[in-house]
This record gives sequence, structure tokens and C-alpha cells, in this order.
Amino acid sequence: MRLSAAFFAIVVACGGAPAWAEPPPLAVKWRPTSAAPELARPRLWLRPVEPTGEARSALGEALFRAPELLGAVARRSGLSCQACHINGGNNAKFYIAGISAGAGGLDLSSAVFNPLADDGVANHRDIPSLAGIADTAPYGRDGTVRTLRDFTRQVIVHEFAGAEPPALALDALGAYLIRFGFLPNPRLDASGQLTNLAKGSARRGQTLFTRPFPGQLKLSCATCHAPDRAFIDQRQHDVGTTGLFDTPTLLGIASTAPYFHDGRAQSLKAVVGHFDRHYKLSLSPEEQSDLIDYLLAVGGTNRGEDPVKRGDELARVDRFGRALDLVIAERNVELSEIVVGVLRRELGALNERFPLPQQKPARDYLRAISRGLQSLGEASERRAWEDAEAILEATRQALSSLGDVLNLNAVGALFAP
Ligand code: HEC
Ligand code: HEC
Repeated sequence: MRLSAAFFAIVVACGGAPAWAEPPPLAVKWRPTSAAPELARPRLWLRPVEPTGEARSALGEALFRAPELLGAVARRSGLSCQACHINGGNNAKFYIAGISAGAGGLDLSSAVFNPLADDGVANHRDIPSLAGIADTAPYGRDGTVRTLRDFTRQVIVHEFAGAEPPALALDALGAYLIRFGFLPNPRLDASGQLTNLAKGSARRGQTLFTRPFPGQLKLSCATCHAPDRAFIDQRQHDVGTTGLFDTPTLLGIASTAPYFHDGRAQSLKAVVGHFDRHYKLSLSPEEQSDLIDYLLAVGGTNRGEDPVKRGDELARVDRFGRALDLVIAERNVELSEIVVGVLRRELGALNERFPLPQQKPARDYLRAISRGLQSLGEASERRAWEDAEAILEATRQALSSLGDVLNLNAVGALFAP
């Protein structure tokens, strides 16, 4: 443990504790912490990243979890992208009294986050999943923003009154966001047709999905939700839900209730009922149920809930270490501070996983790294980049033996009394 001895020395030399005096936060009813709630839903499949883009994507992932990127109200309330789009998905339990008309969304254009963005209208928006986001432009429920970069900037600056993000932050978030893929679905082939794993009722539903509507022969569900184009047409339509909205994908919808831009439909049954009435389809109860089975087959995945493993957390800490390398190398004070904050919270959450008395050495080790990071933040704030780099190097080394320290600790081999 020579490494850690050197590391503790650096930390002690730099020491000091932060003083946080913040006004009271918003009553956010459901917000993920680094621990258990992530269990609640399947995680999106992450597209592989090119080695050269790794640090950038890692920085994007760190920023995705950083309330500091958003304005004062979000920051105080601990709201980051991750709070609403858990691991890139949606958050069906999200609720803030006063600006959520129901669970799973909120009115983003109210005065709460940004008085300048207040449109004076109560317009609750259901939080969408970001699965497949690289291929589903335009963005926003109403589909008015053409690029992901513009949308992300708008979220930060307009919706949450955050400071203008540096280009590096937008690049990094983009590099991370485009990795969100759809979860694999063995019931669909590459062109969006059902495979023979789908049941008979879903196959009958598929026929109904492509059947022209009685009164409007040029229209079917499939003309807007094109199966070979991720079930979208990249256009806006008025489908009787009070306004023009971007056609949403149907991939993954088995786990993203409620539905429509404002979450007005609690179930797929309600959605099908809506279309039946709006387009006067006169579907029989059996046909409606076949169509629902089809939507469940299209919108399902073969993955159950993914347990959060300790290894995942360590891997994340390692990635955020790379993000730190990048922002220090770029001499970016603001982003260094943010990544330091994210990383320290990760370590804090990891710390809580080792509550036993005999696990104290693990806790001490984590705390020491955290204090080191704090000094690093202070050094970068002073633009003392040489100091920052020295602490970074020690931190990298301490982080590289973190897995060993914690694992040995878990089996009690090293730290057993
Ligand atoms: C408080 C909850 C909340 C937070 C925090 C949040 N979002 Fe969203 N996000 C939403 C809602 C609600 C929508 C739908 C908004 C609309 O249509 O106008 C949305 C829409 C999006 C979309 C468009 C999706 C699509 O299919 O068109 C993207 C991309 C996105 N958010 C990314 C982000 C990023 C990146 C962050 C962090 C910088 C973030 N969001 C923070 C709630 C949130
Ligand atoms: C004219 C284009 C069009 C047609 C035809 C159409 N849809 Fe849609 N669909 C949309 C749009 C636009 C929305 C979003 C409406 C909103 O957000 O208020 C939507 C929403 C949905 C949703 C909710 C998805 C979500 O995540 O909220 C489902 C499910 C759906 N459609 C299925 C169908 C089925 C089944 C049919 C045929 C009976 C159909 N659609 C016909 C354009 C269309």
C-alpha cells in the first residue's frame, strides 16, 4: 500500500472541508441516488465508443449527472439530466408539486427554473426516453429543434437558466447522448417486422397496423410510425392531442408509460382507444387487443432489470477519472470543478456501501481520495495547473488501486480485524 501512503500525504498537505450553505431545495418527489433506484428499470444499451472518443464520452456522462451544469434552482434541488432521464431512459416517478401535472413529467416552461422561459401556460411534458436519440431528430415533443446540440444547449440555458456551456461540454454531452441505443428486441428483425418469436395476436396486430384507415386510405399507423425507420417519420402531426407533435418512436414503449406529449394516456389501451375514436377506425375489442399486443411486441425488450453491480460503480469512477484528465488538460476551470463534484459524489455513494466497522479502511481510503479531489478543484480554481496535475496523477494512482482495496475489503482478506 505504498501508493496510498504517498497519496494520503498529498491529501493531508492540501486538506480542508467545504462549507455548503444553500437555500432550501424544491420538493422533488423522486430523484435517483447513486444506489438502489437505478435498479428500477432496464438500462439502455450503450453503443460502443471509439477509443479516441472515450474521454469525451466519459466527460459527457459526468456532465449528464451534474446538477452544477444547470441553473441555480436545479443545482440546489440536485436535478441533473440523470434525474429525469435515468441512464438515458425516462423517469416515470418524477414529480415536483406545483409544476408536475402528474408523475413522469413537468412543465419546463414555468417560472420555477427560469423566469424568462415562463410562457404563462400550464404545459406539462412527459419525460421522454433518450433511446436511439441519434436517429430520432427533430427534438422536443413538438419536434421544433433540428439538432441534438441545439436542444441540449436550450435545455441548459433556456429551460434551466444555466450558464452558457463551453463548446467542450456540448461536444462531450453529444458524444455521450448518441451512444444511447434501443434495447435489443428479439421479436423484431432489422426492418422492423415481427420475427416468429412474436405471438399470433401480435401478428394479427401487425396487419392492422399497416392496414389503411377506412376514411383515409393513404393513412395507416405505419405511414407515420414506419417500421423500417425506427417507427418514426421525423415529422409533426396533429393526431387529436391538442397540437402538432413529432411522431415518437414505438421502440421501448412497453416500459415508458404514460403516453403522448403530456402523458394523458396511462396505458397502450388508452392510446389505441384514442386513435380508434380520432380516426373513426371502428376497431372491434379483439382488434384493439391485437393491436395492443403488437405494440407490446414492438415496444418490448428481452432484458430484465439490470442489477447495479459494484463493478459498474468502479468502472464509472474510472471513466470520470478520464473525464478529469481531459478537463485538466484543457485547462477548463469551470468543467474541472463540475467533474470534481460529480466524482466526489460517486465516491460518497460508494462510501455508503461499506458501513461495517471492519470496513473503515475502505471508507478512509475513499475519503482520502475525495479530499484529494477537493484540493485538485481548489488548485484548478487558482489556475495552479502544475499542482492540479500533480494531485491528478496521485489521484489516478489511488483510483487505480481502488478496485483492489474495495474487493479485498469485501472478502475481508486485508482489513479483517
Ligand atoms: C426536470 C426534468 C428534466 C431534466 C433535468 C432534463 N430533461 Fe431532457 N427532457 C425533459 C422533458 C420533460 C422533455 C420533453 C420536453 C419537450 O418536449 O419540450 C425532455 C426532452 C429531452 C430531449 C429530447 C428528446 C426527444 O426525443 O425529442 C433531449 C435530447 C433531452 N431532454 C436531453 C436532456 C439533457 C442532455 C439534459 C441535461 C442537460 C436534460 N435533458 C435534462 C425533462 C428533463
Ligand atoms: C398522422 C400520423 C400518425 C398516425 C396515423 C398514427 N400516429 Fe401514433 N403518434 C403520432 C404522433 C404525432 C404521436 C404523438 C402525439 C402526442 O405526443 O401527443 C403519436 C403517439 C403514439 C403513441 C404514444 C407513444 C409515446 O411514447 O407516447 C403510440 C403508442 C402510437 N402513437 C401508436 C399508434 C397506432 C397504434 C396508430 C394506428 C392506430 C398510430 N399511432 C397512428 C403520429 C401518428
